[in-house]
Order: sequence, then C-alpha cells, then structure tokens
Amino acid sequence: MRLKTLGVVVVTALALFTVFYWVSDPSRLSERQAQASKDLIAYGERVFANNKTDASAAQCARCHGDNGQGGPVPGTKNLAPNLHSASIAKKLKVNPDYVHEVISYGGVVVSGNVNSDMPAWSTDVGGPLTVQQIDALTALVTGWAEEAATQSQAPVANTADAGHQVFLARCASCHAADLSGGVGPNIQNIGNALVTTGLPVPPSGLKQMQADYAKDKKTFFTQWIRDSTNNYNGGTATGMPAFPASDLTDDQLQALITFLLTQKK
Ligand code: HEC
Ligand code: HEC
Repeated sequence: MRLKTLGVVVVTALALFTVFYWVSDPSRLSERQAQASKDLIAYGERVFANNKTDASAAQCARCHGDNGQGGPVPGTKNLAPNLHSASIAKKLKVNPDYVHEVISYGGVVVSGNVNSDMPAWSTDVGGPLTVQQIDALTALVTGWAEEAATQSQAPVANTADAGHQVFLARCASCHAADLSGGVGPNIQNIGNALVTTGLPVPPSGLKQMQADYAKDKKTFFTQWIRDSTNNYNGGTATGMPAFPASDLTDDQLQALITFLLTQKK
C-alpha cells in the first residue's frame, strides 16, 4: 500500500516536472518571444499602411511612403523623412524611447517645431492611437532603423549593380524604379544630360548646376544628392530630400553615382 502511494507521488512529481520544464524551456521561451515580436511587427505594418478600409490603420504611409522610405507630405512642399535610417538608430542609442516619444507626441520631438507636419498620435494627448498600436509601430520603426544601421556598416562595392540596389531602396519612391519619374523628374538620361525643364521647383542655381555637371559629373551628383536645397537652391527646399553621410554612406553614394552615369537614353 505504501509503495503504491509512493509510486503515485513519484509519477505525479515527474509529470509536473515535465510540464514545468516544457513551459519554461529556454529555447521554447525564446521561440515564443520571437513569435510575439513578429506578431507585434505584423500588427505595426497594418497600423502603418495607407489602408482606408482598415479601422486600425493610422496611415503613416500617407506621408512616409508605403514602405517607410519617405516622401512628400500631401498638400505641402515638405517631406516626411525616410524611417529606414541609421540616424534614427543613433538617436535611439542616446534615448531608447526616442521612436516611442516621436510617435506619441509628434514631430515636435524631432524638430522642436510645434507646428510640425507630423501630429501627435497618443490618446494621452488627444491623438487617435492606443498604447498597443503605438508599441507595434515603435517595434516596426525600431527594426527598420536597426536594419539600416547594420547595412550602413557593410561595405558597398562601387559597381553599377550595387548602385542600382541603392537607387531602388532610396530613390525609386520618387523617381520610379525605371527612373521614369513621379514626384521627381524622369532621370533616364541623367548620364548624358541634366533635366532643366519642367522641374517642380526650378532651382535658383540652375546655371551653376549646368556648369558643375559639364565640368565634373561626379562632383555635381555628390553636391546635388547630399544637399540640393543648400547647394543649388539658396536654402529653399527643392522637393528632393538631403542625403547626409549619416543617412547615405560614402560607399553607397559612390555606387549610386556609378549607376547614374550608366543611365543614357
Ligand atoms: C502628415 C504627414 C505625416 C504623417 C501622417 C506621419 N508622419 Fe511621421 N513625420 C512627418 C514629418 C514631416 C516628420 C519630421 C518631423 C519634423 O521634423 O518636424 C516625421 C517624423 C517622424 C519620425 C522621426 C524620424 C526621425 O528621423 O527622427 C518618426 C519615427 C515618424 N515620423 C513615424 C511616424 C509614424 C509611425 C506615423 C503613423 C502613426 C507617422 N510618422 C505619420 C510626417 C508625418
Ligand atoms: C522625396 C522625393 C525624392 C527622393 C526620395 C529623391 N528625389 Fe531626386 N528629385 C526629386 C525632385 C522633386 C527633384 C526636382 C527638384 C527641383 O525641382 O528642384 C529631384 C531631382 C533630382 C535630380 C536632378 C535632375 C536634374 O537633372 O535637374 C537628380 C539627379 C536626382 N533627383 C537624383 C536622385 C537620387 C540619386 C535619389 C536617391 C538618393 C533621389 N533623387 C531621391 C525628388 C526626390
């Protein structure tokens, strides 16, 4: 009789231990955490999307582009920044809550401009988004920023193919994948000649652009891409964002220019 009781106790203890082990097994725990963070990012993508029929969508994509690559703010001449950005990763190192704060309280956190085009989203300050939605967007944008920071450390070969990849990731949202134009002009012949007519914001430095291009195309492209607004339009926004070295490495820029020089029609 005693022995039977002991048997039951031992078997029960073993069963409990197995269940406990199964639940707390480190590999299974991290699997579950990975799945949870995947689910959170997938939800973030839904909230980010410009989907008018999905009530949970905040339509961040309306300004930041379908994939967060940046684009024009509708109805203004201003630009919403690219969110695949190593500079955001840098800000996160200084303030781990940076992305969460910008989304919660708006563009004022970025620029100090209380009239920033980017509104506040948190219900705490009268915005439309719940804590869950903001957490999901934070996970999404943080992932993009970290990926960009990792990529920006990898060397990029100075080839037209590598430059083409940079173009697709950074420029195609405005100039189209085949360079035929959209928000920005058609640049399919940019290896042969500048576009001087029909530009959305005719730059005040157009003569200088032509002179620089005639003298040394690489120097022209560097100045234009790094900061067209200050280098060729006296500080007035051209409609093309600046790409400082913190956002587009020298390697990436060189490869991109190599690619642009091959574009001749
Ligand atoms: C009406 C246009 C608009 C919408 C909609 C919008 N943004 Fe923005 N966003 C901007 C602008 C413009 C800035 C730059 C703010 C500034 O400098 O004042 C910005 C800045 C940001 C930044 C900081 C970027 C950096 O480089 O530091 C993040 C992150 C961001 N937005 C995320 C979002 C998310 C997530 C949503 C959706 C909930 C969203 N934005 C919706 C226009 C918009
Ligand atoms: C947010 C939209 C946007 C993005 C992103 C963008 N551009 Fe532009 N780009 C423009 C606009 C708008 C113009 C015309 C500027 C003007 O009207 O003054 C332009 C003009 C140009 C020109 C000059 C055309 C000429 O001959 O006068 C070049 C070259 C160019 N872009 C290359 C690029 C490259 C390379 C990238 C990626 C690193 C890029 N652009 C990303 C909007 C964009």
